[in-house]
Amino acid sequence: MPQHKFIVCNYTQALSSGKVSWQSPSNIALVKYWGKYGEQMPMNPSVSFTLQNSNTQTCLSFEKKQSEGFEFEVFLDGKREVSFEPKIQKFFERVEVYLPFLKNFKFKIETTNSFPHSSGIASSASGMSALALCLMDMERQMQPAITTDYFNEKASFLARLGSGSACRSVEGPLIVWGEHAEINGSNNCFGIKYPFDVHQNFNDYQDTILLVDKGEKQVSSTLGHDLMLDHPFAEQRFRQAKENLLKLRPVFKNGDLSEFIKIVESEALSLHAMMMTSMPYFILMKPNTLEIINRIWKFRDETGSKVCFTLDAGANVHVLYPKLEKDNVLHFIKKELLQYCKNGEFIEDEVGLGATNILV
Ligand code: DP6
Repeated sequence: MPQHKFIVCNYTQALSSGKVSWQSPSNIALVKYWGKYGEQMPMNPSVSFTLQNSNTQTCLSFEKKQSEGFEFEVFLDGKREVSFEPKIQKFFERVEVYLPFLKNFKFKIETTNSFPHSSGIASSASGMSALALCLMDMERQMQPAITTDYFNEKASFLARLGSGSACRSVEGPLIVWGEHAEINGSNNCFGIKYPFDVHQNFNDYQDTILLVDKGEKQVSSTLGHDLMLDHPFAEQRFRQAKENLLKLRPVFKNGDLSEFIKIVESEALSLHAMMMTSMPYFILMKPNTLEIINRIWKFRDETGSKVCFTLDAGANVHVLYPKLEKDNVLHFIKKELLQYCKNGEFIEDEVGLGATNILV
């Protein structure tokens, strides 16, 4: 099991206090992760575009301590956020075996998101990967010999233990997570860069995120994933995801956007179909989500545009399109789609290269 390589026996350098800071992006899955087992292992492989503008910046201050147990405080936009602390506590408990120094320090975790917290944009992927990178930064100071590959793999591995999809946010532009027999190096423990050719059609691919519903999640993703365990269509769904990843290989190689659209939209709808057919069942799309989808289909029919949509576990719509079409599609979005967004809000994003270190 690859996780053994992330257990550290001893560090070569001592560390007493300091500060590290990382910016990490959100990501949008093209083939969806939905269903997990054990310690955050995915039931099927997934692939995602790393985003550029939707990100979390986290500053981790640390100071050596003698007392027992974990000690940390979390601040969001400068204000103490105790509601985040149980999640971090659980994360620390899970990763302690891989980061044996955690109980030796008192931490201050200061975090801000580039997108509004209540936007319904997954902040767990960017937030958990930013925190994992800060902890890896500390580890590297105590073990300077580690390689960049090891650093990124372990950061992704730790991020996954915080939130599954977070493991796809460390690097970019296309990340595969989950074992797939036809994809060398793919595994359930950490994300890897998509290892095959990618056509220039996908360079700087655009993602305009339409904020249809900004409320709290109706269903936590953990509950949603759990519902896949005894879902009547689970096996077919996991097989479908694997097949879709395989089908994407020639699509990425040849830049075939018509095929790309079919796979990506079908994945989004299959994800929601799983939610609608689980027990209990639920519908996370809103009437405006469907309005937007229908408008996108009509626009595509009328203009031959290669714009398409995907969804995550919510009502917001990610509108995906090649950079070449940016002016046209943005014009269409502003004219026809913003009326379906809460307060006309949207986020202009595009494919990015992953997390960055912020100098403090
Ligand atoms: C629908 O990564 O949020 O966005 O592992 O429980 O934290 P946890 O779940 P999470 O699930 C994301 C599901 C998804 C699809 C995807 O991103 O692949």
